[in-house]
Amino acid sequence: MPAVNAEPITPMPFRGGPFRVRMGLTPIQPADWLVIGPDYAGQIAEKRRLIAADRAAVWQMLPQADGAAAELADVLAANLAAHHGAHFALDAGRLENRLLGESEALPQGDLGAVIRHLQEDFCLLRPDAGDGLYRLTGASLCFPANWKLAEKLGRPLIAIHEHVPDYEPAVGAGVDRFLQRLDAGRLVTRANWLLSDEPALFQLGKRPLAHTIPVAEIGRKLAMRLERQCFCRLPETGAVVFSIRTFVHRLDEVVATPTDARDLLAALSGMDGPALAYRHIGPVLPQLTDWLESRAG
Ligand code: HEM
Repeated sequence: MPAVNAEPITPMPFRGGPFRVRMGLTPIQPADWLVIGPDYAGQIAEKRRLIAADRAAVWQMLPQADGAAAELADVLAANLAAHHGAHFALDAGRLENRLLGESEALPQGDLGAVIRHLQEDFCLLRPDAGDGLYRLTGASLCFPANWKLAEKLGRPLIAIHEHVPDYEPAVGAGVDRFLQRLDAGRLVTRANWLLSDEPALFQLGKRPLAHTIPVAEIGRKLAMRLERQCFCRLPETGAVVFSIRTFVHRLDEVVATPTDARDLLAALSGMDGPALAYRHIGPVLPQLTDWLESRAG
C-alpha cells in the first residue's frame, strides 16, 4: 500500500462523531475537483491493466449517456489544462502527461482517452422523463468498493442503494432533490470510509473481514478505504457527473494519533447491527476496539 498522505481527505470522514448516514456536502472549486496524489502511478497502472483485461467490466454506457460522456471528456480535458498545468499540457489534440512522460492523442469527446490519465472513476446520471428521478446511465468504474456496475446500471438511486441500511429513510429523497436542484457550474463534494482486509482497488463483492486477526496485527492487516466523491452538472447535456477518487491506506497510517483513535471509536459507536453487518465489521469489532482503545491513550 502507498505511504499515507497525512490527510488524503480533509476532514477525514470518520471524524464527525458517531456514524450516521448523511449527505455531508461541501462546495469546492474546479481546481480542487481532480486529485493527483502520491498513489498516481500505481493507480493509473492498475486502471489501465483492468481496462485491457476486461473493458466491459469497468466501462458501461447506455445509449442515453453518449452525449454526456463526450461532454465530460471535454470538461475533464479543460480542467486538466486550466488547473493541472504542472502535470499535463494540451496542445494540437495531444495530451502531454508529464507524470508518466507520455504524449498521446486526445481526440475531442473521447472519454476513454482522458480517463486513462485520471485516478477518478466517473458515473453519469440522467433524470427519468417520467418520474424525474436520477438514474445511472453510464460509468467508467475501475475501483468499485464492493459493487457491480452491471447490477446498478439504469437504476434510480434508491434502488442502487437498496442494500445500504438507513439510506432511504435518512437521505433517499434528499439526494434526489439535491441532484434535481444542482446548478451547472457548481461542484460539491462528500466523502465516506470503509474498512477492509483486502487492499485491492477493484472489488466486486462483499467479503467478511477475517475474524482471526490478532489485536496486535489490526493496524497493518486492515485498510481504510476512503472515497472522495464529487458532483457536478454538465452544462450542455444537463447530465450529473458523480466522480469517485479512492484512497486505500493501512489503518495504522490513518490512525496515527490518540485523537485519530478516539475519533474512529466514536464513529464506530454510532453503527448499529445492520450498519456493522453491511460493512462486515462485526467479526473483527472486538479486536478493532481493543486496538483503538490501546492507541486512544
Ligand atoms: C449524496 C449522495 C449519496 C449518498 C449520501 C450516498 C450514500 C451511500 C452510503 C451511506 C453507502 C454505503 C457505503 C458507505 O457508507 O460508504 C453508499 C453505497 C453506494 N453508493 Fe451511494 N450515496 C450517494 C450518491 C451515490 C451516487 C450518485 C451513486 C451513483 C452511482 C451511488 C452509488 C452507490 C453504490 C453503488 C453503493 C454500494 C451499494 C451496495 O452495497 O449495493 N451513491 N452510498
